[in-house]
Amino acid sequence: MNLPNNLVLIGFMGSGKSTLGRLLARQIGSYFLDTDRLIETYYNLSIPEIFKQEGEEKFRELEREVVFWLEKSVTGTVIGAGGGLPIFVPEIKRVGVVVYLKVELEEILKRIDRKEREKRPLFQNFDRVVELYHRREPVYRQIADFIVPNQQLEDSLNRLAEIGLKMGIGKKGKGIEVAGGKG
Ligand code: S3P
Repeated sequence: MNLPNNLVLIGFMGSGKSTLGRLLARQIGSYFLDTDRLIETYYNLSIPEIFKQEGEEKFRELEREVVFWLEKSVTGTVIGAGGGLPIFVPEIKRVGVVVYLKVELEEILKRIDRKEREKRPLFQNFDRVVELYHRREPVYRQIADFIVPNQQLEDSLNRLAEIGLKMGIGKKGKGIEVAGGKG
């Protein structure tokens, strides 16, 4: 079975995976799926509620299940992975081409305001966020097929569209081989 040909966005909380994922899907003529939203609808609880009622370990189990479902069932789609997912479920690589949206920690701290913090159980304590960022960053880099710095939305979107279209994702895709490389 050779189904997955998806473009998977990974990166730290607040790196713009959902914002760019939606815009990208629309631009190339595909759909956007977000692992957090899939888990919320499947489990019928919000992410903060899952963490509070069931704990992080259960949440990671749900992430693992969603990855196996995506691998079996989804193709030609832009997928946003929760910030911790690639750390706990490296099998995400089987779901498609993995693109790391790289944003500096200082910038992330500016982007995540109070409202955004409330949605993220692991973005509550400053020291923890700093520690998580530094621990995860090398893993994102290692797992990624491409690294796209997300400073200017328009530039990042163009780069992602180029990757997606070359992979043949979306109605406008050419379906030609993309050369690997982390540039
Ligand atoms: C998490 C990131 C969140 C969400 C959950 C845990 C993490 O997703 O999956 O709160 O471990 O970094 P976003 O990256 O979309 O904020």
